[in-house]
Amino acid sequence: MSAQDFGTVITGSNSVMPVPMTHASPRELVAGRYELISERGRGSMGVVFKARDHKLDRFVALKFLPLQWSHDEPARNRFRREARAASATCHPNICTIHNIDATDDGRLFIVMAYYEGETLKEKLERGPLNLDQALDLAAQVADGLATLHDKGVIHRDIKPSNLMITDGIVKILDFGVARLADEQRLTIAGSSTVGTVAYMAPEQASGQDADERTDIWALGTVLYEMVVGHVPFRGSSADAVFYAIKHEPVPAMRSGRTTIPAAVDTIVRKALDKSSDRRFGSARELSRELRRYQDEATTTLSRAWLSLFQRLPFETSSSPRLN
Ligand SMILES: Nc1ncnc2c1ncn2[C@@H]1O[C@H](COP(=O)(O)OP(=O)(O)O)[C@@H](O)[C@H]1O
Ligand SMILES: [Mg+2]
Repeated sequence: MSAQDFGTVITGSNSVMPVPMTHASPRELVAGRYELISERGRGSMGVVFKARDHKLDRFVALKFLPLQWSHDEPARNRFRREARAASATCHPNICTIHNIDATDDGRLFIVMAYYEGETLKEKLERGPLNLDQALDLAAQVADGLATLHDKGVIHRDIKPSNLMITDGIVKILDFGVARLADEQRLTIAGSSTVGTVAYMAPEQASGQDADERTDIWALGTVLYEMVVGHVPFRGSSADAVFYAIKHEPVPAMRSGRTTIPAAVDTIVRKALDKSSDRRFGSARELSRELRRYQDEATTTLSRAWLSLFQRLPFETSSSPRLN
């Protein structure tokens, strides 16, 4: 039986219980308006459903945060403030937040725009991306981050499963959630798998506070992975990954037998400098560098084509005949 064959109710316990649905019975609405349709996925920081908003008659994504988070009112308020700041930013690369609400039993949930498409994690499961696409997606994430940072919001959990790609446009998901986890002392390191710690900056791995440059590191890791096909710092346990993040140099970038252009390698290494002071000073600066490289590469390529074309020994029908 697939997820679509289930109706779902939010219980008072810490779990979301799927219950078999009979088509005759009306579905229970969350907060009086959201009909849960199917589960999209669950991570360490909640479970996401595709839902229909009956009030505005549109699809939305609902993210239910773990129930134990609802007890710390000051942390919830800070989370709400941050989500409000982020939702006030209208940017094509930031997921649109419609609302933050709570179920009758106090479970906090976020109502977001529902995006069709796939996450970068799903895309990368089919292998690395070509360089142009990787640089384009990274520049889009950098643009979204720059806007979030302008509002004083640090994401803290940039990773492929938090980047949704819909018609070639990246949407950054899940801002503010990692901070709530930190405040609940459910550190990401303590509650997640080796896969997730792989994107943490050295300062985060050492338990220090995050700033803009922490997000820049994570984006550097994502860019490396898009090009090479795996993250730069790997290990068989979270501790081994942390050790590599803090002490090992960035491994040489290769994609199959192709060598990565030196300029791209330089950008990635700057984003992945162990010292946050030596990274890009802002996401905007990183975005500018990525786009400048792309423009220069395009210009160089067009010049190469032009010069090749000019040397070709043929005439086109429109060429003037010189006698
Ligand atoms: N706004 C959204 N629209 C569509 N799908 C979403 C949206 N937000 C999250 N998802 C999906 O839900 C999945 C689970 O998200 P999440 O609980 O944050 O876990 P994680 O980020 O660890 O994968 C994501 O990987 C994505 O596929
Ligand atoms: Mg997520």
